[in-house]
Amino acid sequence: ITMTIRVLTNKEGPQISKHIYGQFAEHLGRCIYEGVWVGEDSDIPNNKGIRLDVVEALKQINVPVIRWPGGCFADEYHWKDGIGPKEDRKTIVNTHWGGVTENNHFGTHEYFHLLELVGADAYVNGNVGSGTVQEMQEWVEYITFEGESPMANWRKENGSEKAWEMKFFGVGNESWGCGGNMRPEYYADLYRRYRTYVRNYTDKPVYKIACGPNVDDYNWMEQVMKIAAPYMDGISLHHYSLVDGWTNKRPATNFPEKEWFSLIDSAKKMDELITKHSTIMDKYDPDKRVGLIVDEWGSWFSVENGTNPGFLYQQNTIRDAMVASLTLNIFHRHANRVKMANIAQMVNVLQAMLLTEGDKMIKTPTYHVFDLYKHHQDAELIDTYGEAKTNTDFTVSKKDGQVAVSVVNYNIDGTEEMEFDLSDFDISDSEAWIVAGDKMDAHNTFENSEVVAKTEFKDFSVENNKLTVTLPAMSVATILLKG
Ligand code: AHR
Repeated sequence: ITMTIRVLTNKEGPQISKHIYGQFAEHLGRCIYEGVWVGEDSDIPNNKGIRLDVVEALKQINVPVIRWPGGCFADEYHWKDGIGPKEDRKTIVNTHWGGVTENNHFGTHEYFHLLELVGADAYVNGNVGSGTVQEMQEWVEYITFEGESPMANWRKENGSEKAWEMKFFGVGNESWGCGGNMRPEYYADLYRRYRTYVRNYTDKPVYKIACGPNVDDYNWMEQVMKIAAPYMDGISLHHYSLVDGWTNKRPATNFPEKEWFSLIDSAKKMDELITKHSTIMDKYDPDKRVGLIVDEWGSWFSVENGTNPGFLYQQNTIRDAMVASLTLNIFHRHANRVKMANIAQMVNVLQAMLLTEGDKMIKTPTYHVFDLYKHHQDAELIDTYGEAKTNTDFTVSKKDGQVAVSVVNYNIDGTEEMEFDLSDFDISDSEAWIVAGDKMDAHNTFENSEVVAKTEFKDFSVENNKLTVTLPAMSVATILLKG
């Protein structure tokens, strides 16, 4: 049976913030070191130490924002150790992630250089757990103050005459856990204090983000909103997709059918979490001024055999592409509350866009979904009538006179036919692409990097402003309809 969806192209909903397509890059395993930073002397082609293959790949998917330096690492990071001549920088032991000693060669200047190369906005996560108010205040001054001041002058001495724009700033990370094991009431008061000193040195105010709950900790949301809502622009939420809970992590590849579905069910929980947290937020913020910032999400498996357990390196399959598509659709549906999201993590860690090995780099199935979905960035969400069939989902948006329809079929076998009736929209032309797997753990390797790729999609037709799509199992597609 075909499902028919009426697409109300004249009924535009909220804007899907491009920042929903954000990335998270922590000092963790091989994300920053190796994945992004190889150093100026490396044989791997780089621009002032930042690898160019990674930059090029990220530019292609229009990465809008990169969250840095953590994660748990953020609450142990002391930014002053990561500036100035590289040979003089203090080392840091990354106690959370593998206990490795880092040379601090990737610091504030290198981060802003990465953003410039990629064309992304800054989301810096400050240290509340083990840092002082003064340290945080000075970091903001160092980054954003254009005039004469001790911090601004220091930045200039270190080679950056111009201040940078810092769009987003996080006040602590997981303060209920690795960021200080705090109670919500205590954190909320600390948040109020620390954020006071995150000064606006320019006419573009810094968007300040409070540490929000872990998954379904609704009490955390309630208390922090009650005490601190007027002082924040956003509050975070973390939710990872797991096959069988935190204590029984399962492999990323070579898994049984039931794990295909249990992972997807875990990802789909995002909808309930956003709905319930947003209802609590509504009590203290009925106008939805405060954004829900899902700054950590994605699938979390056991690490690949033979790799450091603290490095969280995992493969990425067509199942992860399903997780990405379904989660992005959920963010779209909640576009009036979810203002940013940052998938964990950008390179070589958890549900990564890119994997590297020496000078080689591959794009993951998740990367290709972000590529398919880039048409939704900053588009208007379009209202629809009709339900998706079991194990399928869709999202529709409109931008610059074009309608983008993304569809996903997460059945293991069998094509699905889907019909979209766009009666109010005269379709003159179309283009479409698909990302598909031929088995549940289809994935790319360094030897065979195109097993799962974005290819042209042809199994659709347009007639009388009706779009009919025949979508294979285990696939995601985007059809771009031009008016
Ligand atoms: O993304 C990995 C870790 O998961 C982050 O450092 C932390 O915030 C979360 O627990």
